[in-house]
Amino acid sequence: MRIDIISVVPELLESPFNHSMLKRAQEKGLVEIVVHNLHDYASNKYKQVDDYAFGGGAGMVLMIEPIEKCIQALKAQRPYDEIIYTSPDGQLLDQPMANALSLMGNLIILCGHYKGVDERVRQHLVTREISIGNYVLTGGELAAAVIADSVVRLLPEVLSDETSALTDSFQDGLVAPPVYTRPAEYRGLKVPDVLLSGHAQKIEDWRHEQALKRTRERRPGN
Ligand code: ADE
Repeated sequence: MRIDIISVVPELLESPFNHSMLKRAQEKGLVEIVVHNLHDYASNKYKQVDDYAFGGGAGMVLMIEPIEKCIQALKAQRPYDEIIYTSPDGQLLDQPMANALSLMGNLIILCGHYKGVDERVRQHLVTREISIGNYVLTGGELAAAVIADSVVRLLPEVLSDETSALTDSFQDGLVAPPVYTRPAEYRGLKVPDVLLSGHAQKIEDWRHEQALKRTRERRPGN
């Protein structure tokens, strides 16, 4: 899989992709993540990528020209399955959406910024708009990192067997059951006996019951 991210603040994306699971996935050649600086596609010498909104109003709007140039340059090199725009009013990211995106080959994520992007970009250049929650971030970079993380960890071989995504919260519509580690007792706080019993079937049944209980309590709609 390849993910191209278009941003006006590419520095914001350096850290998330250079550590831990996302870094290992790239090193193993399971995913290629490339961040593009939108300013490199600006046509004037000031590298301007935004301008005042027609009709007035506070805030700058990202211009269509550099975005179109960047997307065209990428599309000339390979086909893309989706061109995603990050926006608080997009479709809410959830596990089924992450699963679906993880089955795709090449993705572009265009990070929103400032007061938004020229509407013609949304109408004609992007194929999907995604929000990571009903709150407003200063820009789409953190949202792009969240989307990429949720997708890349689902790619075959990214996670080891022990951390397999199959046992994640939401993978089966349920949230994950509680987990414990050593010591078995800490200041009088005990680990449930069943987990120390060594009885695999009983442990599995207990975990399933706990997952059902937690889902009822925390996500009653699920
Ligand atoms: N940009 C600003 N807020 C956002 C959000 N909640 N989701 C996606 N992109 C955003």
